[in-house]
Amino acid sequence: MELPDGVVGWVVTRQELLAELLTDADNVLSKDLSHWTAERPEGWPLTGMVEVTNMVTADGPEHRRLRRSVTGFLTPRRVKDTGTHIAALVQDLLDDLPQQVGADGTVDLSAHFSSPLPLSVICQLVGVPESYRLRIRELVDSIFDHTADAQEVLTTQDDIVPLMENIADFRRERPGDDLTTHLISERDRGVITASELSDTMWLMVSAGYETTRNLLTNGTRALLTHPDQRALADAGDAVTWAAVVEETLRWDSPVANFLARYPLKDIHIGGVTIPAGDAIIAPYSAVGRDVEFHGADANRFDIRRTTKHMSFGAGPHACLGAHLARLQATTALPALFARYPHLALAVEESELLPNPSAISNSTLHLPVTLGT
Ligand code: HEM
Repeated sequence: MELPDGVVGWVVTRQELLAELLTDADNVLSKDLSHWTAERPEGWPLTGMVEVTNMVTADGPEHRRLRRSVTGFLTPRRVKDTGTHIAALVQDLLDDLPQQVGADGTVDLSAHFSSPLPLSVICQLVGVPESYRLRIRELVDSIFDHTADAQEVLTTQDDIVPLMENIADFRRERPGDDLTTHLISERDRGVITASELSDTMWLMVSAGYETTRNLLTNGTRALLTHPDQRALADAGDAVTWAAVVEETLRWDSPVANFLARYPLKDIHIGGVTIPAGDAIIAPYSAVGRDVEFHGADANRFDIRRTTKHMSFGAGPHACLGAHLARLQATTALPALFARYPHLALAVEESELLPNPSAISNSTLHLPVTLGT
């Protein structure tokens, strides 16, 4: 796969091979950037994906330590407890949609529904005060934009850590029942360093927001463009809405590709040798459409499908926010379609512009008519 500026990496596009690779039973893959031998220009647009110091770029015991610093707070119980807050936020956003309709009679669901819900949910969990959220939204958009120029990339990179430090300072003064307060105590106990604290906060905010936003937009778009599937979902129950969410994850993976793993020695996979020091990218969009795994109709959106997708990853680095993302999507999507049963796309599907990103997969906007 060719990344911006001609930087190349390998993609393993068969789901079963990717699962084997990500499980990494022989410990031959590292996520530590220092093992990557490719040259990248200063201000490379995907810098924000690889130049971080958190669990995403750590291996073995270091990875477990950093991951535990989050999972010690983000327990299944705590996620379940956010359910009431999520349901209330969804209702508020749905109430507000008619106020957001423009002069042309349309409203952008990406801006007014899919984005504010996960941003608000993750910021509340991380302990980010309201006043910082707009800047976070801008910075997240920027790190996923692979068309950003070098100056923007450098400015974004320079801004992230001070912003996280400000939020941590705020939380030190006003501790709460939030992840930042928890991570501050982990730092005070010497479990994590100051730079791991801010990079972990940033990871949680960016991963928690962008991906779930895409899931909500992609799921809505899929139903609006597949009336037969929408009718099935409308007629169904909670199980059916969970199936809508799982099929969206497979068919239109919110994370298209994820950087990167570096083989510590040459590895042989699928009849190919990948040399030590190259980058391997996990292509979640591609494996979601793998005909060998999902069948000859893998390109079809079908909520009755029974094959399991891999869009939350696999192995030690598998997504730790999957339950939170599923909870938001299975709350938001049925509520949206129940409240606005005549919801319709306001443009042709072909007019929807994709995110300018090799990583984040969705459309920039989702203009709809509410039909009320
Ligand atoms: C639809 C929503 C989401 C999708 C599709 C998604 C997808 C993924 C994938 C594919 C990975 C593994 C990447 C790899 O190593 O190849 C991952 C890791 C991760 N995700 Fe998610 N994610 C979602 C939501 C969330 C949420 C809501 C959070 C935060 C609460 C989150 C936090 C993380 C973190 C911290 C990791 C790194 C885990 C590690 O390296 O050990 N994600 N996610």
